Amino acid sequence: MVHQECINCKTRYDIDEIIYFCKKCGDILEIKFDFKELAQTLKTSDWKTKPLSVWRYRDFMPIHETAHVVTLNEGGTGLHRSQHLGQEVGIKEVYVKNEGENPTGSFKDRGMTVGVTKAVELGARHVICASTGNTSASLAAYAARAGIKCTVLIPSGKIAYGKLAQAMIHGAKVLQVNGNFDQSLEFVLKLAEKHKSIYLLNSINPFRIEGQKSLGFEICEQLNYEAPDRIIIPVGNAGNISAVWKGLTEFHRLGFIKKLPKMTGIQAAGSAPIAQAIKTNSDKIVPVEHPETVATAIRIGAPVSWKKAINAIRESHGTAETVTDEEILDAQKMLARIEGIFVEPASASSIAGLKKLVKNGVIAKDERVVCITTGHGLKDPDTAIKQCEKPVEVEADMLSIEQALGLKQQRVIIAR
Ligand code: F0G
Repeated sequence: MVHQECINCKTRYDIDEIIYFCKKCGDILEIKFDFKELAQTLKTSDWKTKPLSVWRYRDFMPIHETAHVVTLNEGGTGLHRSQHLGQEVGIKEVYVKNEGENPTGSFKDRGMTVGVTKAVELGARHVICASTGNTSASLAAYAARAGIKCTVLIPSGKIAYGKLAQAMIHGAKVLQVNGNFDQSLEFVLKLAEKHKSIYLLNSINPFRIEGQKSLGFEICEQLNYEAPDRIIIPVGNAGNISAVWKGLTEFHRLGFIKKLPKMTGIQAAGSAPIAQAIKTNSDKIVPVEHPETVATAIRIGAPVSWKKAINAIRESHGTAETVTDEEILDAQKMLARIEGIFVEPASASSIAGLKKLVKNGVIAKDERVVCITTGHGLKDPDTAIKQCEKPVEVEADMLSIEQALGLKQQRVIIAR
């Protein structure tokens, strides 16, 4: 039987109980399966005939048989062999798993299709989240699809324009909080606690993590059931690294993969409590009071899923690293120019982390590495434009255009 369980004291809760924190110890929850039952279900299931997507893994999702799935066709994103990137950083085999290819342009859709399906199953009519941008964009879209009300709290002035546009056009009630993400999250936690009719869909919600674990499944399947040596992933609130690890360990336990990759989390230098805890070998994080980075998506000082993330990194013998804003922006531009993959700054932190860790000798040259890029570059056009040369203004005539291109003027012969 599938149930919810506290990650600390292991108290069990019913799968349909609306609960975000353990009533006994206050820690966060995760979904637990009966693996014998799941293995049995998979034996007779046709899951391997379904296209690569979140719902290929329907049997792994804690949703009742009768549920009406709220989907926009999420998952099934490309795993791009990136030879130029490999040459640039000095390793043989590197892939980019580009989550910007999801319906609203980020990995959040994997979690939201399951989270909003669960919300509808539970009879919720109003969903809420705090967000640095992508979660709000995704929740707004899936709530619209489900025909339910959506409220999002975002830090004022610190969210990329594309993401704000998405939340607004999908009809969410957008509250810009004069504060940062961590403060906004505290408010939505209190709101969901106080007003039981509002269903919370931040990554503290374990059903979102279930959807996001499909990212781990897909990477293994795209590599022919062989896990890579290492997965590099940007870390903010720390839900995604926990989710990918959960997926990998489930595939491992079911015997689909033989080994597990080293989970490698990358944080922006100005908001890196998890990387700090890993580097200092600490069992706790010290929250960053005023997180700052150009990668606004991961501008988070008190990640709610830090325990799960630290566990994933330690259990997998991985590591965590920080990258500066300059390294992030350089990596963003490099990836766009040598691989044709345009990602937002937070996503480029995995590429910047790869470069730094190879240079420092942490990543061996013969490792098979997958970098996850979490969101599309068009989410944040302002940051992209700021780093590039301005377009050249020309008059609307051939001469000016040829001159601007440094081409020799040629006589134009008009045939009659
Ligand atoms: N990359 C992008 C593009 C993100 O939007 C986020 C998180 C992350 C990485 C980090 O993932 O939080 O699971 O560790 N964005 C959240 C949001 C916080 O509100 O959109 P994480």
